[in-house]
Amino acid sequence: MPHDLARPTLPLRPELAGVEPYGAPQLDVPYALNVNENPYAPSAEVVADIAESVAAAAGGLNRYPDRDFLDLRADLAAYLAVESGVPLAAEQLWAANGSNEIMLHVLQAFGGPGRTAVSFAPTYSMYPEYARDTHTGWVTGRREADFSLDPQVARDTIAELAPSVVLLASPNNPTGTALPTSTVLAVLEAAAQVPGGCVVVVDEAYGEFRRRGTPSALELLADHPHLAVSRTMSKAFGLAGARVGYLAASPALVDALRVVRLPYHLSAVTQAVARAALRHAPTLMAQVGSLRDERDALVVWLRERGLQVADSDANFVLFGVFDDRHAIWQGLLDRGVLIRESGPDGWLRVSVGTPQETAAFKDALVDVAGL
Ligand SMILES: Cc1ncc(COP(=O)(O)O)c(C=O)c1O
Repeated sequence: MPHDLARPTLPLRPELAGVEPYGAPQLDVPYALNVNENPYAPSAEVVADIAESVAAAAGGLNRYPDRDFLDLRADLAAYLAVESGVPLAAEQLWAANGSNEIMLHVLQAFGGPGRTAVSFAPTYSMYPEYARDTHTGWVTGRREADFSLDPQVARDTIAELAPSVVLLASPNNPTGTALPTSTVLAVLEAAAQVPGGCVVVVDEAYGEFRRRGTPSALELLADHPHLAVSRTMSKAFGLAGARVGYLAASPALVDALRVVRLPYHLSAVTQAVARAALRHAPTLMAQVGSLRDERDALVVWLRERGLQVADSDANFVLFGVFDDRHAIWQGLLDRGVLIRESGPDGWLRVSVGTPQETAAFKDALVDVAGL
């Protein structure tokens, strides 16, 4: 074909041709229960402190921000020490624009051409995108029918594929399943045998919603320099709009992430918002307990109506199984309730909202599914 100067060709990477950007529909509906947000907005007191901190940061915006943001990292370490009882140094923390960017940093540092990242499906649907964007091979092993991970399956998969990165969401999205420590340890042992090394990321985006007695992988950090535990302020803190994710790991692992980050990736405004929010952690997270109770009650309610429901340690519930899940999803949407078509065929995922939102969801579901 002759080259048309008026319409030059865009040299799009072939694997991106025809690919839609990731994202759930952002629809204007009365009840948005589709992206696992915290339904409670920050209080007036927290908003005022954030606004004051941002104003102070604004006065210095002619300068680039602190590249290493050790103050924020120290604040995050202090928060985790209280939340999970694990003492950490600021050098063991890293932060970025959402845990999405944290995971991208991990794959930029430890993935790459000729390397493989592994997870166990069904799991968070962004993982393959981080792999694609870093030219890392992507392979999923399987979870069991109840969405648990069989430690032997995990060991065999890792031994066979020799990945350089394993991503384990716990609690998992979209199933809500948390992994027992014994399974995480089995994965860490198998990863330690991989020639050339293998980093294991336990993605605890929903960690604060775990049921009592469910441990955090943070407890394993001291003995496992190839472990990273990622968290986010998007869920329990109710700050999805601020875009702050973070990770705890050995200082050596964090130093590798510092190499691949863009200079000044975390704006002075973001740092100010995060530090102000951390000063109010107990207030911001006051509703975590009631969201957990609301979730447990929703699981019981759905089961009482004969539905299958995955055990959940997160702020959402996966339920089914419907012959035509799209029809149920659409019926709910027609009644103003937006949930997510996610997980294996026939399953749907609903985020835990306020009691009013949950009541609206239940009423609509009874109507649509004839429960
Ligand atoms: C398992 C899991 N990890 C990470 C994220 C990313 O969260 P964020 O980038 O808002 O920190 C999400 C978001 O829904 C998630 O479900």
